[in-house]
Amino acid sequence: MKKLLLLPLFLLPISALADGGGKLAPTAANPKWQAECSACHVAYPPALLPERSWRKLMGGLERHFGSDASLDAATAKEITAFLASQSADRASSRTSAKVLRGIAPGDTPLRITETAWFQRQHDEIRADAWKRPKVGSPANCAACHAGADQGDYAEHKVRIPR
Ligand code: HEC
Ligand code: HEC
Repeated sequence: MKKLLLLPLFLLPISALADGGGKLAPTAANPKWQAECSACHVAYPPALLPERSWRKLMGGLERHFGSDASLDAATAKEITAFLASQSADRASSRTSAKVLRGIAPGDTPLRITETAWFQRQHDEIRADAWKRPKVGSPANCAACHAGADQGDYAEHKVRIPR
């Protein structure tokens, strides 16, 4: 993994440069989603979970992974519609297709980090790296992906903190 990052760009396969797999910003803007869902962590790319996951997650914001992230009904409704419209089922990217392929039809994961797609993307990371103080949790995307707040997860911007 570390070796890969040290390779000069010209040694990377062309496909790695051409692949837009790391660009995950939504195709539309929503200021409420941006403001409310980035208050405690990065606003996670909607394209990384199916619509049913976003609907379930938005239905339980008062008990959100041990936090109270509740919103007034109108704001919650607007953000839910936005997330649905940008979800993996509706985005037409290759990444979304891969995310969906890894989720059984009867499954409704509430975490991106629990999906088979996420685990495959990160299978070269050593177990102890997830536990470093500057990382803390796999959900802390911005610890390693410098462009995460812009939805930019491109490989060349990845750096695992020590
Ligand atoms: C009050 C703080 C807070 C707010 C506001 C908040 N979250 Fe979270 N969220 C958390 C915490 C805490 C976790 C668990 C992080 C961890 O496991 O390290 C989390 C985790 C998540 C995860 C799972 C991450 C993973 O492991 O893949 C998703 C998805 C998520 N939040 C979506 C949202 C959305 C959408 C909104 C806006 C409606 C939102 N969050 C607003 C605190 C918040
Ligand atoms: C401990 C550091 C770390 C954390 C935390 C982390 N990642 Fe990664 N991520 C990596 C590494 C390393 C790679 C592999 C880069 C490579 O293949 O060269 C990667 C790859 C990716 C890729 C593929 C990029 C591409 O160009 O194909 C995506 C997308 C991605 N991560 C999204 C996320 C998201 C979303 C989160 C948070 C929910 C997250 N990552 C959390 C380190 C991390």
